[in-house]
Amino acid sequence: MPGIVLVGAQWGDEGKGKVTDLLAERADAVVRFQGGNNAGHTIVRGRQTFKLHLIPSGILHKDTLCVIGNGVVIDPRVLTDELEELRRRRVDTASLRISANAHLIMPYHLMLDHAGEAKLGKLQIGTTRRGIGPCYADKAARLGIRVQDLLDEKILKKKIVAALEPKRLSLRPFAKDPQLDLQTITEEYVTYGHRLAPYIADTVRLVHERLDAGQTVVFEGAQGALLDIDHGTYPFVTSSNPVAGAACVGAGVGPKDIDEVWGVIKAYGTRVGAGPFPTELDGALADEIRERGGEYGTTTGRARRVGWLDLVALRYAARINSLTALAIMKLDVLSGIERICVCTRYRGPEGAEFDYFPYHQTVLHHAGGEYVNLPGWIEDLSDCRDEADLPAAARDYLQFVSDFVGVPIALVGVGPGGDQVIWTQASAGMAGSGWAASATA
Ligand code: IMP
Repeated sequence: MPGIVLVGAQWGDEGKGKVTDLLAERADAVVRFQGGNNAGHTIVRGRQTFKLHLIPSGILHKDTLCVIGNGVVIDPRVLTDELEELRRRRVDTASLRISANAHLIMPYHLMLDHAGEAKLGKLQIGTTRRGIGPCYADKAARLGIRVQDLLDEKILKKKIVAALEPKRLSLRPFAKDPQLDLQTITEEYVTYGHRLAPYIADTVRLVHERLDAGQTVVFEGAQGALLDIDHGTYPFVTSSNPVAGAACVGAGVGPKDIDEVWGVIKAYGTRVGAGPFPTELDGALADEIRERGGEYGTTTGRARRVGWLDLVALRYAARINSLTALAIMKLDVLSGIERICVCTRYRGPEGAEFDYFPYHQTVLHHAGGEYVNLPGWIEDLSDCRDEADLPAAARDYLQFVSDFVGVPIALVGVGPGGDQVIWTQASAGMAGSGWAASATA
């Protein structure tokens, strides 16, 4: 031990890549457990910026085992491109292992994602159109094609035939697309199989070996709690479970293997795609925060919706994930805002108040935030490296959040650089104790 799960506690894009990268420095293994290349992690290393979609951020640390777990859905074209790009930039990828049981995104999944959104018209979810939902649907329907199938052309072909059959009807407009041709798909995927073969492994066993040897394993989530297919703002969610419990399923460990659960949030809120966002801002302030925070999707380039920090949603996320620590990123973006609002309650159109995240879709769609106004600060935070360096108002802001949610803050982000963080006193006492000391060493 320890096993540390790291999840997004909002609507994704919280800065998980940077936190994983920091924890990976001292971890023996990093494991992605759900989602696919709908995620995008940006890591700034010195003058280099890396944008990763599938490969865990730990890959930048030579000796860290990096696992793409069975719960992830893999587009092999994206994965092989990502590997190629890392090699081109002289990053050693030898420590990557891909679960043989992970499911593959096929060309028809991308088409179904596009077609599904087009059909929904105004009601569309705003998916990343990467084929994520249709791939998980095939997994549940037991029509999925897994990484291990890439290694046997005969089996692969048989499975593609079976999977294609029920899709013919809905994909009729695409019927003549070469991407739907059995032979073309098979040949393309066999080629991926050759390229990925050295990385394919029984990753569950590899993770067990690390944990049994007392090593540190970081389980890296993608997206965020409010995009969870069971606990998020359904149907405006992703098709997997980004909550901490899914780390067990998507990596093949039990709940007792988890010692800590870190929830990553931003000091404000963002959301991409459609769906309720009770604390959403518009106008000049939203534009200012979006520009200063660089709030444009890593994967799709879409402008993110921006809002105040929603503590009702965060307290809910803390509970469904059993968060033991918070990492609050991008605190520096709020510098210069005179009064900072935090949402502590929702109010429905008829005046009903909600202290707890409402389960009912209609309620949530019409809820607005009730706010506490906290004093802002004008100082630039980008050089702060210790809690004591922060202006009192920024410290009070953090304290308010932590007290309201009932979770200690371990880490605060004050800029995009890997060193632009503050490890708090609270981080020293955690199962991965020594994080703070090691990070500043
Ligand atoms: P999908 O995961 O592509 O099916 O998209 C479903 C919803 O999740 C859409 O609202 C997407 O914008 C959102 N989503 C998926 N991945 C991410 C992410 O990494 N960050 C933020 N939103 C995401």
